[in-house]
Amino acid sequence: MTAIPENLTLLITIAIVALALIGLFFLVVTRLSLIYQANDANSDPDTAHIYWIYKSPFFIKLADRMFVVSSILLLQYSKLVSLVVKRLNPSLEGKRILQVSCAFGNVSEKIAESCARQDAAEFVLTDIMQSELDNAQRKLKRFGDLCTYSKQDATNLEFEDQSFDYVVAFFLPHELPFDKKVQHVKEAHRVLKPGGKVVFGEFHKPRLKVLEVLGRIYFKIFEPYATEMWDEFDITKVLEDEAAGSYRVEKDTFLFDNFQVLAAKRLT
Ligand SMILES: C[S@@+](CC[C@H](N)C(=O)[O-])C[C@H]1O[C@@H](n2cnc3c(N)ncnc32)[C@H](O)[C@@H]1O
Repeated sequence: MTAIPENLTLLITIAIVALALIGLFFLVVTRLSLIYQANDANSDPDTAHIYWIYKSPFFIKLADRMFVVSSILLLQYSKLVSLVVKRLNPSLEGKRILQVSCAFGNVSEKIAESCARQDAAEFVLTDIMQSELDNAQRKLKRFGDLCTYSKQDATNLEFEDQSFDYVVAFFLPHELPFDKKVQHVKEAHRVLKPGGKVVFGEFHKPRLKVLEVLGRIYFKIFEPYATEMWDEFDITKVLEDEAAGSYRVEKDTFLFDNFQVLAAKRLT
């Protein structure tokens, strides 16, 4: 048997240690942060479901990098973003667009670019964390008055009924406990105008068993509310329960159905 060169052994060891440290970091700022907040008498019940990685300006700065976001979404990030933006049709001219939650990556930028190109009236970004809004505002400076920012809970929005033409929720529901998931979709419906569209980018139950098993292990460790997206939670059903027969739903799924972009047009 040929011996493994010493340099290679060292490289493999460094790679394993680096991966273990990255895994430990994400474990602390996601799952362990939820456990800590659930047991901390001083934590705010409205935001106790949010990982530290979305709360602390330091972690936001550290993690808001395309390679991080893209790796978490199995290199499908750009595809997801472009499908979401593509669903904002037929036209954004004179329209009001709402994005509920605006964490990492460039989805808000891509929506803002589309809004600017098509002369939208307003692009409103909300998030329950002021630190996320500050981060988004820094990134979207060049769009000036087109974008406005408002600290709001997606499960209890302050906007009037039927006040937006498009509502976008990108990877928010899977982060919420079940009742908040339902309430978030109900709120998206409430603020949407008839003729408008709500667009979700989200996880979807994969049809490949091996992906499902790996996904369940990953979610069990890092994202405890996410497998509800595969099991008991159904966006279309919540919309139907709110307004039977009022929606026409179109869904794109990809990477063995592991991801979905669901666009629901409100007909009445
Ligand atoms: C995985 S990210 C969602 C991805 C994000 N929508 C994007 O565009 O990349 C989680 C974000 O949801 C926000 N969030 C969590 N719960 C929320 C709620 N109830 N209302 C509004 N934002 C919430 C967090 O503050 C964080 O910014």
